[in-house]
Amino acid sequence: MDTRTKEAGPTRLASALVRSGALETDWIPTYKAVPRDMFVPDRVWPGIADGTRQNALVDRANDPDAWLEAVYSDIPLTTQWDGGEHQGNGLGTTPTSSSSQPHMVFSMLSDLNVRDGHRVLEIGTGTGWNAALLAHRLGSKNVTSVEFDRAVADGARQNLKDTGLTPLLVVGDGRNGFAGNAPYNRIIATCSVGEIPPAWIEQTVPGGLIVAPWGPLYGGEGIACLTVQENGSARGMFTRSSAFMRLRQQRPDFPPHDFYLKGREWPADGARSKTKLSPAAVEGWQEQFAIGTRVPDVFWTVERYDDGSYTLWTYSLDGESWASTDYEPDADTSDVVQAGPRNLWDETENAYEWWVDNERPGFERFGLTVTGHGEHRVWLDTES
Ligand SMILES: C[S@@+](CC[C@H](N)C(=O)[O-])C[C@H]1O[C@@H](n2cnc3c(N)ncnc32)[C@H](O)[C@@H]1O
Repeated sequence: MDTRTKEAGPTRLASALVRSGALETDWIPTYKAVPRDMFVPDRVWPGIADGTRQNALVDRANDPDAWLEAVYSDIPLTTQWDGGEHQGNGLGTTPTSSSSQPHMVFSMLSDLNVRDGHRVLEIGTGTGWNAALLAHRLGSKNVTSVEFDRAVADGARQNLKDTGLTPLLVVGDGRNGFAGNAPYNRIIATCSVGEIPPAWIEQTVPGGLIVAPWGPLYGGEGIACLTVQENGSARGMFTRSSAFMRLRQQRPDFPPHDFYLKGREWPADGARSKTKLSPAAVEGWQEQFAIGTRVPDVFWTVERYDDGSYTLWTYSLDGESWASTDYEPDADTSDVVQAGPRNLWDETENAYEWWVDNERPGFERFGLTVTGHGEHRVWLDTES
């Protein structure tokens, strides 16, 4: 192995994280004491920074330098596909565990704003790196981490043992938190949710924080930083964009396309119209998030054609409403067909125009309130 790479990697990554503002001074000793390489398995599929695609397998046994390079790059590393069913060298269908991007790890730890003596619950142990960072900073007895996948938890347990850190690892469904060690001052989720589970609010002290990636069904996702209130609700702002894998039990199961067309030929009973808004305009991560907060229970797919044109299909979970919006390069207008009780393209267009009229707000201008009854309300700038 090239020893220069081993020495340079952690320092180079630390410098990049400090420069970007993710790694704050108070976390530097912990970063140094808990090296990422002790938590990354030998076989990983390196991702790109936004976390939505993976590159080919890097296997430490075949190429230790490439492995170390991947470990000390600011990228997420997929460590499991399809709940462990995919065992080959290629890419699986759905990534189900990973070592998160270091920039995101330290940004979220900064959002978590821990103080000495705080008790923390993590949801999504994965490799155990984040649990180890917290255990080093706060003491192992103050950290509990829940992982749903037993094999993943076993790997984390071994990694933690090698570092001598002993946070409590629990195999279970993180939606339930872990009542055995509650209450917590902080809960951090490292898998994303569409609904904040009530147990997380119940198990956090009033004034405590829940830091969790939250995203609407339509798409887009940001880190919600919620303060638990005396009345059993939780509210706060989003701090940044994120792209985590979904908590396994909240992964949506969408009806197939044919379910909507019910065996009929397009346009079936849909009403035709034209739009000046290109479907390309609504595809950005931030745009998806903004639209998703105003257009509930809606998802979409894209059908691409050889000439560069495509159809954006939008569907509602009611199983009835759908819309097709055609994209043609250089066209001034797009053809729209809408069917069912909801006019999904009109809803999408209205939500997009609302976002533009409000000066295209970023994640940091959005807030989320989760009431004591579990209702989720997203707001812009201030809660009305
Ligand atoms: C992005 S990885 C976590 C990265 C991890 N914190 C680390 O430091 O390596 C997300 C993890 O959440 C776990 N997960 C998904 N659904 C879960 C659930 N309901 N309860 C607990 N863990 C869950 C996945 O199995 C996966 O290991």
